[in-house]
Amino acid sequence: MHLINFKELSSQDLNSMVDLGIEIKHNPQKYAKAFAGKSAALIFQKTSTRTRVAFEVAATQLGGHGLYIDWRTTNFTLADIIDEIQYLSRNVDIIMARLLFDRDLVKMANASRVPVINGCDEMYHPSQALADLITIKEKKGALKGAKLVYLGVHNNVCNSLIEACTKTGVKLTTVTPIFNEAARDDELLIEAKKTGLWQSTLDAKKAVEDADFVYTDTWIDMEFFTDPKFAAEKDNRIKLMMPYQINDELLRISDAYIMHDMPIHRGYEITLQAIESPKSVIYEQAENRLYAAKAIMLKLLT
Ligand code: CP
Repeated sequence: MHLINFKELSSQDLNSMVDLGIEIKHNPQKYAKAFAGKSAALIFQKTSTRTRVAFEVAATQLGGHGLYIDWRTTNFTLADIIDEIQYLSRNVDIIMARLLFDRDLVKMANASRVPVINGCDEMYHPSQALADLITIKEKKGALKGAKLVYLGVHNNVCNSLIEACTKTGVKLTTVTPIFNEAARDDELLIEAKKTGLWQSTLDAKKAVEDADFVYTDTWIDMEFFTDPKFAAEKDNRIKLMMPYQINDELLRISDAYIMHDMPIHRGYEITLQAIESPKSVIYEQAENRLYAAKAIMLKLLT
């Protein structure tokens, strides 16, 4: 079994992954040998802080080993993904990959003898969404009935949040004035709509009034943030998105917890005051990436 997105997971599967993450967080010693003698290949075609640290530390704390593999220094740059994964999956027990393209993740999964985890591509970020669910459950006590508002670009993080929330009973409102076409998955949106748990609006103020959580993400995907070729589009997005910033004005009408998957672009999608607000759970949310990584690895290996 692989984790490319949440499509193959039932509501029960996803809820039990959340509960396992919370259980591991509170009883780390119980799981200290759960990955003993095993190795996780962690492949990065893009930059990362949290995903790398979470999976590498998870492998160590579970008694095994995480190999950081920088795409640029390997023969993934020369050879076909299929051949490289055929080899790799004979020497490691699980593979986590952060790639530019979802189609390459799917190729990896099809060629692999061991589970493949999506560490964030242009369409999905499931390990992030699992950490988000863990955070929501910790704060609210339950996922069912919790109200989450996502303000930002409709992107990979947004897709995985929609899947995660609608499979676990979280009521999600997305406020996404820009749709990143690279992340388009109409099938996912159709399935989410059927649940009645997901709605979209452009009225940010009304959406956050009774929210339990407000969540934002970068307005520009990581691979484009400092790319000069993307400068004009970046300016355009900042202009369009600024009214949807999480700031004092928005927070005056809401008592919601503040979430952000990080890295943060201070002064763009969120202000410093909001980051430092007593209602901010951003760093706890980021810490929960570790417990999400452990839960994913253990679930996929059993
Ligand atoms: N949220 C997240 O995936 O962080 P990194 O890009 O630092 O891994």
